[in-house]
Amino acid sequence: MSVKQEQISVNEEELTKLINNKKESLLLFDLRTKEEFVNGHIGGSVNAVCDAYAKENIIPRIPKIGKMVLLCQDGTISEPTAKMMRSYGFDAYFLEGGMKNWQGELEIKSFEPAISVNQLWEDILQKKEVFLIDVRPKEDYSSFKIPGSINIPLAELFNSETVDRLPNDKQLVTVCPRGNMSMVGVFALARNGISAKGLTGGLSAWGQLITSSELFHNGLSIFQIKKIGKGCISYILSSQKEAVVIDPVYPLEEYIKIASQRDLKISVVMDTHLHADHVSAARELAKITGAQLMLSEVENYEFSFNKLNNDNRIKFGGSEIKVIHTPGHTPGSISYLLDEKYLFSGDTVFAEGIGRPDLRDKAREFANDLYDTLHLLLQLPGDVNVLPGHYSSDEYLTKSVGTNIDKIRKFSILNLNKKEFVEKVVGIEMPKPMNYEKIIMINKGFEAIDRTNIPYLELGPNRCAITAN
Ligand SMILES: [Fe+2]
Repeated sequence: MSVKQEQISVNEEELTKLINNKKESLLLFDLRTKEEFVNGHIGGSVNAVCDAYAKENIIPRIPKIGKMVLLCQDGTISEPTAKMMRSYGFDAYFLEGGMKNWQGELEIKSFEPAISVNQLWEDILQKKEVFLIDVRPKEDYSSFKIPGSINIPLAELFNSETVDRLPNDKQLVTVCPRGNMSMVGVFALARNGISAKGLTGGLSAWGQLITSSELFHNGLSIFQIKKIGKGCISYILSSQKEAVVIDPVYPLEEYIKIASQRDLKISVVMDTHLHADHVSAARELAKITGAQLMLSEVENYEFSFNKLNNDNRIKFGGSEIKVIHTPGHTPGSISYLLDEKYLFSGDTVFAEGIGRPDLRDKAREFANDLYDTLHLLLQLPGDVNVLPGHYSSDEYLTKSVGTNIDKIRKFSILNLNKKEFVEKVVGIEMPKPMNYEKIIMINKGFEAIDRTNIPYLELGPNRCAITAN
C-alpha cells in the first residue's frame, strides 16, 4: 500500500498558471544570492533571506493568504524551507528543480528592497517623489505618523484593487514600527509587479533622526538641532569657541561632531527640565566632553550636578545666560535668557502653544504656576526671540523653529484670567507620552540608560504641548 505524500512542489507549468492567475494571492520568494537574483529572476518574485532574524521578525507577520512558492538554484534549499514554512501554517511549495531548470521569462533589474531613514530624509529634502505607505493598523497610524504618509494596513496591500490605486511615478516606501512588517508589504507589492522599499528600522529609526542648522552667526552662534521624528529641539550656543548645549538628545554624536567641526569646547551642558518624552543625553554628553552638568535645583536627581537657581548667571565666551525659574510644565522648569535677546523656553512656551502641566498628576497646582510663569515671560521685551524645546507642526520639519514675545502675547489663552486659565488647562485631556514614567526614572538616574532601547522607549509622538487658543 502506498501512502499519498503531501504535495509540496510545483513544476514550471503549474507555477506559470499560478503567476498568471492574478486573482489569487501568491508570494514568490527567491532564496538565491542577491547577485543571482539581479542577474535574472521571475517577475513578481522578491529576493528573501530566510535567516534567524526573518524567522523571528518577518515570517510571523506574513498574512496567511494564498500560496507561497519558494525558489532557489536547484531545489535543495527551497524544499526544506517550504517544509519549514508549512510548519508555520503557510500553504508553501517549492519549484521542482529550482531556477536552473526554469525556461520561462526572466526579469533583469537591480532592486534594493530597503531604504534607510537618512536616505529617506535626503530624498524628502531634495523633493524627490516619495510615497510613504504606513502598513500599521488604523488606530496606531492615527496616533502618530511620518508627515505625508498614508495608511494602508498590511493585509490590504495583498489586495490588487488597493494596489492599482497606488501612484506609479513615485518611489513607494513602506513604513511600520520597526522595519519588519514593512518588508512583508514590499513582498506583497512585488507580487503585483510593483517595486517598493521598506523603511529600515521603521518609525523607531525615524524617531531617532537628527538634523541641525545654524540659525545665525555673528560672533555668537546658535545651532538648532532637531530630532525630527519626535519634534524635540536642542541647541548649541557658542561664543569665542566656547559652547553651551541645552537639552541634548540621543544619539549625542551630532553635538560632538558640530563642536569638533567648529573647534568648540563644550563647557556647559544643561537641560531646561526633567524630560518625560525622551531620554536626556545631558549627563553623558557632559561626561564625554568634561563639561559642567547644570540642572534645576528643584528636581531630585540620583547623580551629582551643578544646581541652578533663579537668576543665576552663566558666562561663556563673550556671552551670558540668565537663569529664569519658570515652573508649570514641571516644578523645576528653567528658561535660559541669552544676552537679553534669546529665550530658550524648553517646554514652557512653544511657537504655537504652551507646556502641559499634567505630566506629574498635579495638573491644577502646576497650571497655577504655569499662569504666573507665562505672564512673567510676557514682561520681556516683545522682540526677544523665543526658541522652544519642541515643535509639533509639520511645517517646521524642514525649517527652523522660533517665535518672539510679541507673537506669544497674541495667544488667546493668555488673555484669560488666572481662574479661567487654570480651568481651561486642567480640562484639556490628552494622552501622555509613551513610557513617560520609565523615561522620567531614567532621566532622574534611577534606571540605567540602555542606548539600544531608546528608539523603542521613545516611539510615539511628542506630547508636551497644549494649544494656545
Ligand atoms: Fe517636556
